[in-house]
Amino acid sequence: MLFDTIRDGMDYKRLAGGKWLNGKEYLEIVSPVDGSLCGRVPMMEDADIHAAVESCAAAQKQWQKVPLAQRGDILLRCADLLEEHQEELADMLVREIAKDISSSRAEVQRTAELIRATVQFAKTMTGETLQGGAMGRESTAKTAIVSRVPLGVILAVSPFNYPINLAMSKIVPALVMGNAVVFKPPSQGAVVSLCMVQCLQAAGLPDGLLGTITGAGKRVGQQLLREPSIHMINFTGSTQVGQIIAKGAGMIPLVMELGGKDAAVVLADADLDHAVSQIISGAFGYSGQRCTAIKRVLVLEQVADEFVSKLKEKMKEITVGNPYDGCMVTPLIHEAAADFVMELVEDAQSRGADIFTTGQRRGNLLYPICADHVTEEMRLAWEEPFGPILPVLRVKSAEEAVRIANKSEYGLQASVFGNNIREVFDVVEQVEAGTVNINGKSERSPDHFPFLGIKQSGIGVQGIRYALEASSTVKSVVLNKI
Ligand code: G3P
Repeated sequence: MLFDTIRDGMDYKRLAGGKWLNGKEYLEIVSPVDGSLCGRVPMMEDADIHAAVESCAAAQKQWQKVPLAQRGDILLRCADLLEEHQEELADMLVREIAKDISSSRAEVQRTAELIRATVQFAKTMTGETLQGGAMGRESTAKTAIVSRVPLGVILAVSPFNYPINLAMSKIVPALVMGNAVVFKPPSQGAVVSLCMVQCLQAAGLPDGLLGTITGAGKRVGQQLLREPSIHMINFTGSTQVGQIIAKGAGMIPLVMELGGKDAAVVLADADLDHAVSQIISGAFGYSGQRCTAIKRVLVLEQVADEFVSKLKEKMKEITVGNPYDGCMVTPLIHEAAADFVMELVEDAQSRGADIFTTGQRRGNLLYPICADHVTEEMRLAWEEPFGPILPVLRVKSAEEAVRIANKSEYGLQASVFGNNIREVFDVVEQVEAGTVNINGKSERSPDHFPFLGIKQSGIGVQGIRYALEASSTVKSVVLNKI
């Protein structure tokens, strides 16, 4: 069995220098579904982290000389292995992060497709030549040959909500462009992440090129920021942690996808049935634990009653419960996450919001909640709940919707629902977000579209071609004709 080699019983190993090594101490990973033990992962010490990074740095020197097609072939084999082990990996996702079974299978499949497309895109990347003389007085005897080269060692840090897809969307562009990768998976999601890494190893990745870092994030994070051989960081997670990384990283490139408070603006002439169905899926898919979840609705007051009544009806159809049964809303990642959502609900209720829910909380399982008549004084208007809750703010005009949308510190994505193209584009042009979706929910896919946040939502651009560019830099060679 592919994954038996990376564990002793429930104790999973760490990968460094091409070898799976035991830990000295272990971190327990417990299922949010039923509290059972998913596994234990090594709590790495500073010296182990340093050794893992240095192995990567040494291996990268050889890897960058391997032809792109050969680098790609290894990654393509990994895509096949992910598909072969789809059921096993999906089962781990369900257990470890409570993602419903069909979304878990889809995450594995999406990742195999992402890998294949990334390799294909990488092969089409070209450099350019520039001829001197264009600036005026300088000589025409100079020619610049511009090509893309790897950065060195890239630190990839992935979040709990997509342990496979958001990890591979960082690791694969980095590797195919000739970099080594130090990979820090989320603690919740570490077990399935290590199994994913084993797919890369089994596909034939050279020893040392990929190292895993496990242990409490704060502890290992501090050491990683001290490592001199890390040349770039690609992080997805909270804005709070992103800010710590940005302060500690020094002068290395960063790509970060951070928090969001994606707004859905519903204009007066919107197709309300379509808007409701998209907003339900955008707000409550994977229990709202997506950076790109719709986290507030700004609806024109003349259609607000009708919109909210349709929304509440549709919310009653949302399946809630066990992720193995394919429910849309499942237990949150931990009890504290559910407590936080309820704290925001209580604040909104105490300030006059109308709260509607389809059921009663059971531990970390929350039923879908709609908070209507949310106002700018309420925390729910601004804070990111990362749970199954949708605040509705009623607005007098599209201008007011834009003003409130832009008052947020975040700028990941936004949606505009409406049929008058001029009014829709007025909002699209003014709203501050990396991506604006017209008549659709906010989402990252398809994976070759650019994905970025502005303001406190991120730095840099992801999405296949953009990730390949971000994982490399240009090198210019100047030829002088003498
Ligand atoms: O939460 C991370 C973000 O990348 C979500 O992705 O595909 O659910 O829109 P997606």
